[in-house]
This record gives sequence, C-alpha cells and structure tokens, in this order.
Amino acid sequence: MSEIPKRTRVVIIGGGPAGSLLAHLLHLRAIDSVILELRTREHVLERVRAGVIEHRSAEVLRETGVGKRMDAEGFVHEGVNLAHAGDMLRIDFQGLTGKHVTIYGQTELQKDLYDLIDADGIPLIDAAGEVHVEGIESDTPSVGFENRGAAHVIACDFVIGCDGAHGVCRDFIPRGARWSFERQYPFCWVGLLSETPPVNEELIYASHKRGFALCSMRNEHLSRYYLQGPAETTLDEWPDDRFWAELTARLPDGVADTLVTGPSIEKIVTPLRSWVSEPMRHGRLLLAGDAAHVVPPTGAKGLNLAISDVVYLVDALSGHYDNGSTTGLDEYSERALARVWKAVRFSWWMTTMLHRFPGLDDDFERRLQEAELNYLFGSENAQRAMAENYVGLPH
Ligand code: FAD
Ligand code: PHB
Repeated sequence: MSEIPKRTRVVIIGGGPAGSLLAHLLHLRAIDSVILELRTREHVLERVRAGVIEHRSAEVLRETGVGKRMDAEGFVHEGVNLAHAGDMLRIDFQGLTGKHVTIYGQTELQKDLYDLIDADGIPLIDAAGEVHVEGIESDTPSVGFENRGAAHVIACDFVIGCDGAHGVCRDFIPRGARWSFERQYPFCWVGLLSETPPVNEELIYASHKRGFALCSMRNEHLSRYYLQGPAETTLDEWPDDRFWAELTARLPDGVADTLVTGPSIEKIVTPLRSWVSEPMRHGRLLLAGDAAHVVPPTGAKGLNLAISDVVYLVDALSGHYDNGSTTGLDEYSERALARVWKAVRFSWWMTTMLHRFPGLDDDFERRLQEAELNYLFGSENAQRAMAENYVGLPH
C-alpha cells in the first residue's frame, strides 16, 4: 500500500484508464500526482470493458511507453464489417483513411498502466472513500477522503476528476455553473465473453430485425459478443443458451454457420446513453473521461475520449508548470468538448442506424434507418466518413 502524502501538485480522483494514464504522463513531465481510487486494485483490474483503440490513441500509448504489450499482443484491424439484410459490407479503414485500429482489451491496458504507475513510484491509494474536494475557486485546493478507517487531507494545486460516469467530482462544480445534456436509448447491451475462437477475423456490427448484434474479440481464443436487449433486462434473462441462439439468429447465414459457442466466462448488461456535462473545468477542478461524458459503446469511443482528454490536460498542466502559461488551462474545456461532441455525434449515429427502436418499426424513422444503411452500403464517400470517425478524428 502506498504512503499517503500531505501535499502533491495534482490529486487525481479515479484510477481507471483516464486517471492512471494521466498520472503516468504527468510523471513523464516531472509533475507529481497522487491517485485516489474508490475500489480496490483487484476490482479495477477485473473489469471487462472496451476493446478498440483508435489509431492516434495507440500512437500516444506507444510514444509514452505504455504500448509495449499492446504492440506485442494486440491486433491491428484495417477494417470492420457491417451486416444488414443478408449482405456484409467491409469498411476498409486502411484503404479509405490510411489508418487502422488496434484490438487490445481495456483490462490489459489497465494492468499495463498500474504496472507503470508502480514503476514510476506514483502513490495509488485504493479503497479511498468519501472523497471531498475543497477550495477549487482558490489557488490552494485540497481533497479530503477516508482510507481503511482513517481520514486524510491532501493539499494540491489542481484536482482532476477522472472518476467515471458515477463519480462525484462534477458535483463540486456549483449547480449554476454546469449544464448536462442527455439522451437515453430505449434498450441495453448484453455482453458475453467466452473462450472460443472469434467468428470472424474483424469485428461485425449487425443490424437485424430482432435487434443489433456485435461480434468482437480479445484474441484468437477469446471472443466478445454483444446483443441489443430490452431496456430493463437482467442477466438472469440471458442464460448462455438463449444468448447464443439469439446471436445466431441475428448474424448472416454464412457467418452464423461458423459460430463456435461455449460457456460464458463473464457477462454484463449495460444501458446505453449519451451524456455530456459542461464545462470540463471550474477553477482548479478539471474533469476527464467518463466523469464528464458518456457515449453508447456502439462507436467504441469512450476509452479513446478519455485518452484525448488526458493528452489535452497534460499539455495544459505542462504549460502551467513549465512557463506559467494559463492558455492551455483556459482552453481545456472548449478544446476537449469540441472533440467530445464529434464522438457523441458519431456514437449516436452508429447507435441510431444499427439498433431497433421499440415501437418504431414500419414508420418514418424505420424507413430513414433503411435509407441510411443503403446509402452507406452504396457510397464510398459515406464509408470514408464512417472510417474517418471510427479510426478516430485528430487530437
Ligand atoms: P472509468 O473507467 O469508469 O474509471 C473511473 C474510476 O473512478 C473507476 O476506477 C472508479 O472505481 C473510480 N471512482 C468512481 N467514483 C469514485 C470516487 N468517488 N472516488 C474515487 N474513485 C472513484 N470505449 C472505447 O473507447 N472502445 C470500446 O470498444 C469500448 N467498449 C465498451 C464496452 C462496454 C460494454 C462498456 C461498458 C464501455 C465501453 N467503452 C469503450 C467505454 C470505456 O470503457 C470507458 O469510456 C472508459 O472506461 C472510461 O475511462 P475513465 O477512466 O474515464 O472511467
Ligand atoms: C468490445 O470489444 O468490447 C467492443 C468493440 C466495439 C465496440 C464496443 C465494444 O463498439
């Protein structure tokens, strides 16, 4: 367990990908920080989440010494596939944009980040509860918290809220100074991980009248599949047999025929929503990642936005410490939100195009959905726009 300092330059609340990457990148710029994580390390390292790393995100990880195992064990994917009405369309990222994505599980990335943080000597205080932020409108903020039965306070220059969608940091911005924007979708995803070979070499996003399906993977022996389910569904309603039968029904025949099924080793239900909290800075409190914005997983953008926020933040904090410049800090929220909203748009677009919306069959919006898919299947320009967004817009 790390010793708890009384003072540091930056207190980072939340030790997920955003918080741990930020701490490492600050360390590379000789800016010290402390991470406070609500859960235990073991819990954080067990969470199964994202799998797709954008082209530029992978470069950032590589350039900062985080990408060694990703390069050795991850998979470069030069395209993805869309299935609709019995047809499959390959979106050729490499041909259309000259870029690709890397398939590397967030679980693995989180392990790599914790290993680096330990090697950097950055204090990671896990099981830190009751986090309380003070003085963000002054130059001397502090963070109080409880850890293993004792109360602590750390004085700092900046507090960074990386505490995810259910975090508390944004609540320390006064009510009248923040706004949120939200869209909830009337369905969820049921996800299953199994030790079976993936059904296809590349991801398949399938639009089907029974609902959306996604075939993804972690490696040659580990498959990740998702199905659209009803909004209020629970895991008990999805025994493995039902999941596999439903997935088989939603895939094109040629693909379904080669699906290898097996016992699940993990299963989740996740609701789908788009949500943004603005601004991403108030005084000496700055937010990054899911603490400020959540997107439905259809566009594979959440982890990648956490990475681009962190890149902007590190620029801003380095400007402050290296030459006393406030420009980066002053522009952080606007700069980050500009990229966030493009990802919100893309994730909404993918979600809207590919899912069945209960109650909307056969009406105007259903026809629009068909038209959108037909346009994409028939237009290289439309495919290029999708590819450009999927591999990631520039930082
Ligand atoms: P989190 O990972 O949520 O980390 C926040 C941390 O803060 C957690 O460790 C939490 O325990 C801690 N915390 C919370 N409250 C407190 C508190 N009060 N005090 C201290 N600590 C606190 N994204 C992609 O880019 N590509 C994908 O392919 C993709 N697929 C996904 C699939 C699924 C099923 C899901 C659910 C998400 C997916 N995402 C994907 C999204 C991605 O997982 C998240 O966007 C990413 O985890 C955000 O990182 P973060 O560090 O901002 O937040
Ligand atoms: C995943 O592999 O978990 C994954 C892949 C693509 C997505 C969402 C999740 O859009």
